[in-house]
Amino acid sequence: MGGGTPEAVQERVRAVLDGLPGRDVDLFVVRLRRWWDDLVEGLAGPYGGRHDLDGLLERVAALLAERYRERAEELKLLDLERSIRPDWFQDPAMVGYVCYTDRFAGTLEGVGRRLDYLGELGVRYLHLMPLLAPRGGDSDGGYAVRDYRAVDPRLGTMEDLERLCGQARRRGISVCVDLVLNHCAAEHSWALAARAGDPEAEAMFWIFPDRELPDAYERTLPEVFPDFAPGNFSFLPETGRWVWTSFNTFQWDLNWSNPRVFVEMAEVLLNLANRGVEVLRLDAVGFIWKRLGTSCQNQPEVHDLLLALRACARIVVPAVVFKAEAIVSPVDLAAYPGVGRHHGRISDLAYHNSLMVRFWSAVATRDARLATLVLGRLPAKPASTAWATYLRCHDDIGWAALDEDAAATGWSGSAHRRFLADFYAGKFPGSFARYLDDPARAADNRWLHRPAMDWDLAGRRAEPGTVARRICSALVGLAEARRRTPHLHAATPVEVVDLQQPQLFAFMRRHPLGTLVAVHNVTEQPRRVSPMALYLVGHDPAGGPHQRPAGPGRPWPGRPRPLPGRLADRPRRLSGQPEART
Ligand code: GLC
Ligand code: GLC
Repeated sequence: MGGGTPEAVQERVRAVLDGLPGRDVDLFVVRLRRWWDDLVEGLAGPYGGRHDLDGLLERVAALLAERYRERAEELKLLDLERSIRPDWFQDPAMVGYVCYTDRFAGTLEGVGRRLDYLGELGVRYLHLMPLLAPRGGDSDGGYAVRDYRAVDPRLGTMEDLERLCGQARRRGISVCVDLVLNHCAAEHSWALAARAGDPEAEAMFWIFPDRELPDAYERTLPEVFPDFAPGNFSFLPETGRWVWTSFNTFQWDLNWSNPRVFVEMAEVLLNLANRGVEVLRLDAVGFIWKRLGTSCQNQPEVHDLLLALRACARIVVPAVVFKAEAIVSPVDLAAYPGVGRHHGRISDLAYHNSLMVRFWSAVATRDARLATLVLGRLPAKPASTAWATYLRCHDDIGWAALDEDAAATGWSGSAHRRFLADFYAGKFPGSFARYLDDPARAADNRWLHRPAMDWDLAGRRAEPGTVARRICSALVGLAEARRRTPHLHAATPVEVVDLQQPQLFAFMRRHPLGTLVAVHNVTEQPRRVSPMALYLVGHDPAGGPHQRPAGPGRPWPGRPRPLPGRLADRPRRLSGQPEART
């Protein structure tokens, strides 16, 4: 072995792997060596100094070897394939589909019977919303997990999940499942033991004897659900204590400053991966580290812990990638694909929340300036990562317009946010918003975005002249066009450009095969873009890329090239939306 891996770790790992074919042991050892420094660095930040780091590393290494022993041959082969093609999830052909198992097809087995449909749509990635055993009653759509080792019995069993992952994989569809890292249900066995006074279980959570620390934390904590779950702490009547609950009172925040939480979650992750899950959605990951005097979101330790978790995955289940769910400001968001020393080392995918929000803001105002400003400033992501771009998901939209950005567009931040909320609530004259009127779900309006699949309607896609057919063929066409457009590979940098028309949002992707220019009109009126406007932002259809002038209308630096008489690849005007893809 060697590398920086200490003797004691090597011996322990070899003992666990004893009896496996030599080549399998070699592979594990090579990977352990490759990712060892990441593991050490990731654990040293949060745990070094206060805990026995060497002991922890040894324990984690043994756990990794044990889970590797259990990995099925078919999945080990997938690990190899993905090591050879590590950009698989960045491919322009990647199109994601997100659904609730029950609302889509009843059970996991039912989903297996709908894979043809997903294949027809060009889907390559299937995110099944939370499906592990939740608490009874309200479970925040499954995000209050009672047992990480069992599937919700209404949906099926772990064996069903494993079977479905295999069926999907053989059709080129990767299954994504949520890893709810920040909290578990108040009914999880850890929480029950903590309620009963077991000190080891108590140490898995943030439990306080009185309001002193909760009040101190509250001074700088934002609220996630101010309407139906105010405050970040919940009272435990049995003992008169308080427990940290960032989300609902039945979702207890896990205490990641306790290394046992890390070990337990690493194990949950590897178990899911060994069932054949290929993408893990790291739910509300920004919340896992708490620091007094801060918002307790996106702390540096979050990224260290992700670095360590990813190292675990790289060593045991390298076919698997992470998708960070961090619904945060653009600056904080950039930290999830990784900036600074974490660059490209933590999450492979991250939700592009900024793009989603700016889209809805732009179509409501018919004005794309804020999108151009905010998205234009987003730091470039590492070339080895991809944004999960989407138009809507199962959650609400936080309008996330900074006051200074709004001011740069000549708007007041608070007035703009109020306008958007009213517009989409249908309260603003001229709004095209429609809403559902369902008293049972009125308290949590996120149910608006969680409809049940209408298979009769979907069946009509076979009938000419129907809306269903029009929408399906447009979607399939879009997926096809993406597949044929290598510029959309996620390694190609995106450059937002300002065409000096508030109605247009535009970007370029410079690729060795040529530059892709995408211009999006956020209004219902046609707009024209002159070749000169594109030339001024740096697009040269006649040749390779040229330097963009210092600013629109500024004197040309150096000798101007002649403008081409006609544009060879005139940009197509799309009807309003930035690409929707994962
Ligand atoms: C995530 C989910 C959201 C849930 C929350 C708590 O952000 O997307 O639906 O309420 O985490 O788990
Ligand atoms: C907040 C959280 C996000 C969660 C959402 C639930 O935006 O930051 O993680 O998805 O609330 O609606």
